[in-house]
Order: sequence, then structure tokens, then C-alpha cells
Amino acid sequence: MSEKPTALITGASAGFGRATALALAKRGWTLIITARGPEPLDRVREATGATAVPGDVADRAHRTRLATALADLDRLDLVLNNASALGPSPMPHLADYPLDEFAAVLRTNVVAPLAVLQLALPKLRARDGTAIDISSDAAVMPYEGWGGYGASKAALDHLTAVFAAENPRLRVYSFDPGDMRTAMHQAAFPGEDISDRPEPETVVPALLHLIDTRPPSGRYTAAELSVRHP
Ligand SMILES: NC(=O)c1ccc[n+]([C@@H]2O[C@H](COP(=O)([O-])OP(=O)(O)OC[C@H]3O[C@@H](n4cnc5c(N)ncnc54)[C@H](OP(=O)(O)O)[C@@H]3O)[C@@H](O)[C@H]2O)c1
Repeated sequence: MSEKPTALITGASAGFGRATALALAKRGWTLIITARGPEPLDRVREATGATAVPGDVADRAHRTRLATALADLDRLDLVLNNASALGPSPMPHLADYPLDEFAAVLRTNVVAPLAVLQLALPKLRARDGTAIDISSDAAVMPYEGWGGYGASKAALDHLTAVFAAENPRLRVYSFDPGDMRTAMHQAAFPGEDISDRPEPETVVPALLHLIDTRPPSGRYTAAELSVRHP
């Protein structure tokens, strides 16, 4: 068996997923990475030595390709469900929310992460591994305009908590990174200057602290973990 820990990261071509992939590669991890756009993903592949599997996590055929890539691994220590859809920008009030768009957000933010957990579970169980689903404060706060995305993250949080209860040997976390200066954040605030938001790289140490210390399964925020590990 390989001595190197191995992770699957979705949404690894940009923002927080990319920053985490670079940090884990620096620590010597073996990575499987995915995102839709092949070129940015390929740049992260080059920088990390990862196996890149381009595609949409909401697409069943793509997830079959991910399962094939996982089957080639002799170990899997971590799954990071980070890929996410914001929904329409500007973000509509629920009264006007196009329902087909809402269904698409749920497919990417709820159905796909569960599907990824399902396909990774046998390998994760073999290592008593860690699964992390990336959440948001919009899962718990009723911000105007954030109803579609927030409902999807609330559903993801609940799914994560039940998955934790059903798999007590694993560590299963919801992780709320807080605001980050990324393309998704800019889409949530179109035309606004978001340069005061922290870069995603600044949040990675809190996630690494979670991975390293393996506290009980549950929901953690980067802010609370940063207090423990500034
Ligand atoms: N930024 C914030 O302020 C903030 C706050 C709270 C929570 N979050 C959460 O943090 C996580 C990362 O967000 P971010 O801000 O870093 O986003 P980002 O910079 O927009 O990056 C998103 C990444 O996910 C990929 N992706 C999106 N949809 C995908 C799909 N259907 N299938 C596969 N890959 C997909 C994107 O590449 P492609 O587009 O090429 O697929 C990209 O690699 C998300 O779960 C988000 O909800 C962000």
C-alpha cells in the first residue's frame, strides 16, 4: 500500500478547492481532482501531480469516470466535496426563483456530493477516512436572495450529519469556510468590489487543522478553527 495519503477533491481548479489541492500536494498527498473546465484543471494537475478527471459532478457519467479513477487507488483517506453552484446571478428572491435553476442547484450541491460519498465509501471505510462537505453560513442564516443556494447547503449539512451518524468509524464534517475572494463570491455580489474578502489560501490552514486533528464528526467553521489554530 502507498505510504502517501490520498484525497479526492471536487471543484479543484479554482478558489478554495485549488488552494487546498496545492496545499495537500505540498504535503506529499496523492490527489484525484475534478472540475468542469479542463484547462484550469490541467494547470492544477501540472502544479500538483494530481490525476485530473474533468467533468461535471452533477453528471452521472462523469461520476462513473471518477469511480473508475478511485478504483485504481490502493487507498483513499479524504473526500472533499467542494464543487458547488451558486444559482442565478444576480440572486433572485424565492418568489421569483426559476424552479429549473433551483433543481440544478440541488443536483450540484446536494445530490452530487452524496453520490460522490457513496462511490468513495468502500475505500474511505477501509482507511477509517475523512469526508468533508463544504458548507456556508447561508445554510443557517436567512439572507435575502440566498434562499436557493442556502437551502441546498442546509440540505447538504443535514445529509452530512446523517452520513456521520451512519458511519461512526469515519470522520464526516461540514466545513463553513466563511467569505472568500473567489469567482463564486463575485457572482454573488455582481459589480461590487470584493477585494476586502480574504483569499481562499488564508482559509486552508483551518481545513488542514480539521484534517490533522480529526475532532468528532460535526459542523465546523473556519473562524472557530482559526481561533484554535491561528
Ligand atoms: N467564496 C465564498 O465566499 C464562499 C463562502 C462560503 C462557502 N463557499 C463554498 O466554498 C466552496 C468553494 O467555493 P469557491 O468560492 O472557491 O468557488 P470558485 O472559486 O467559483 O470555484 C469553484 C470550483 O468548483 C468547480 N465547479 C463548479 N461547479 C462544478 C460542477 N458542477 N462540477 C465540477 N466542478 C465544479 C469550478 O470549476 P468549473 O467551473 O470549471 O467546473 C471551480 O474549480 C463551495 O462549496 C462554496 O459553496 C464559498
